[in-house]
Amino acid sequence: MASAPPPILTLSGITKSFPGVRALDGVDLDVLPGEVHCLLGQNGAGKSTLIKVIAGAHQPDEGRIGWQGEDVTLGTPVAAMRLGIATIYQELDLVLHLSVAENVHLGHETATAGFVRRSVARERTAALLARLGHPEIHPDTIVGDLSSAGQQIVSMARALSHETRLIVMDEPSAVLDPDEVGNLFRIVESLTADNVAVVYISHRLEEIREIGDRVTVLKDGRAVARGLPAGSTATKDIVALMTGRDVAHDFPRRTAPLPEPAGEPVLVAENLSRAGEFAPLDLTLHPGEIVGLAGLVGSGRSEILETIYGARTPSTGQVTVGGKRLRPGSVVSAVRAGLGLAPEERKAQALFMLESVTRNVSVSSLPRFSRGGWLDRSGERAAAHRNIRELSLRPDNPDAPVRTLSGGNQQKAVLARWLLRRCQVLLLDEPTRGVDVGARAELYALIRRLADDGVAVLLVSSEIPEVLGLADRVLVLREGQVVHTAPARELDEHRVLDLVMEGSQA
Ligand SMILES: Nc1ncnc2c1ncn2[C@@H]1O[C@H](COP(=O)(O)OP(=O)(O)OP(=O)(O)O)[C@@H](O)[C@H]1O
Ligand SMILES: [Mg+2]
Repeated sequence: MASAPPPILTLSGITKSFPGVRALDGVDLDVLPGEVHCLLGQNGAGKSTLIKVIAGAHQPDEGRIGWQGEDVTLGTPVAAMRLGIATIYQELDLVLHLSVAENVHLGHETATAGFVRRSVARERTAALLARLGHPEIHPDTIVGDLSSAGQQIVSMARALSHETRLIVMDEPSAVLDPDEVGNLFRIVESLTADNVAVVYISHRLEEIREIGDRVTVLKDGRAVARGLPAGSTATKDIVALMTGRDVAHDFPRRTAPLPEPAGEPVLVAENLSRAGEFAPLDLTLHPGEIVGLAGLVGSGRSEILETIYGARTPSTGQVTVGGKRLRPGSVVSAVRAGLGLAPEERKAQALFMLESVTRNVSVSSLPRFSRGGWLDRSGERAAAHRNIRELSLRPDNPDAPVRTLSGGNQQKAVLARWLLRRCQVLLLDEPTRGVDVGARAELYALIRRLADDGVAVLLVSSEIPEVLGLADRVLVLREGQVVHTAPARELDEHRVLDLVMEGSQA
């Protein structure tokens, strides 16, 4: 380019340490107005830490921040916001018991004063939501009642309620459906057309290709490549920069023979349904089989998993494991029978944030480590350590509090828990959400190994290639109905997308 505009944001030599970890180690970054600048890197590479520095939520130990050519200190999130920097965090930071309008105007004056201003706030919120393509979200709805995707839209509306010049998004697509991702990309495009700069984090390289302009790759807290062209840099090169090695993208092959359809199933769900969530469904899982559930968010995928697991009580039908009928709506009965569920929302449903990695991993297997009323702590720690190594969880420290782990590493802690338990049937809900490409390959291999050892796996994933690559058999869901069942090798991505979307307006 002949005359590139001067950067709107310049970071130089940013360093940030936490006890025992140097999360950022001299990072340089420049962001141009109107560009989508993508940050890539493995789990724990320092991406979220870097954007928290930009957002004024973390103070760097060293380094300089330039904003529109001048040195600035971003002492607080409010200071950053005043300059025009807005952030959509990986773990959304909305106040769940307040309304949509109240969240959008948190920190604005309009929200603090009386009746008239409140109606102004409400109107403005409605206008922002409409601009974001979601006029159906009502300003008075309590945020906690919205889906994760809806909450993210609210977060976005809040970002746009200020004079924003730079908007930072930390894995925004992780909670979205394909058509919602399309909507997000349209928003990004209209922002950049207004010369707003976007810093975008995602583990999905195809998204970077679609909307990214330039890419900066972080590895172990350092920028190992800066300003690469997003469209033309080879995937192989990007992955090699991120991981320091070549990672195979293939899905692991089954090594054990496929179970006989006529053999003894380990799990049978008969006529299982929940009113308003999913229609009566029959499902059989054989030991060693991986069955995938494909469908959009809201198609009933997670509800089916949770009902099988006893976390929801079915309206009709029953679940049998190893020939034994489970008590409907009883997690205890399901877990006793050998079921495990790695849920989708790791923070809310699964993790004890203040406890160590070891305790989080072993919590469901504690009886195994009790010796005459005492807990065998070193046995517990050693077993947990083996599992976190298998998933290359970082830091490689079983004593680290889970709260201090990066997003993707928290996900690995949830998975490690269920791997340690050695369930007969493993229910996995979006197991690779937020997990980087390198660790994904390891996770796929591990799931395959478990199945080859005879564990039955029921897998939910929004990523169709993942379902097709891992599963032996696929059930396609649309609005709570199984619309198609087929061996995975008879399907391809387009066919599944067609089935999933059929009837909905394109
Ligand atoms: N509050 C904290 N206390 C201690 N360590 C932390 C804290 N926050 C982050 N870290 C550590 O800093 C490193 C970088 O974490 P960060 O969250 O920036 O990674 P990330 O690149 O966003 O990863 P992911 O892709 O998994 O979200 C990790 O080793 C993490 O464990
Ligand atoms: Mg992160």
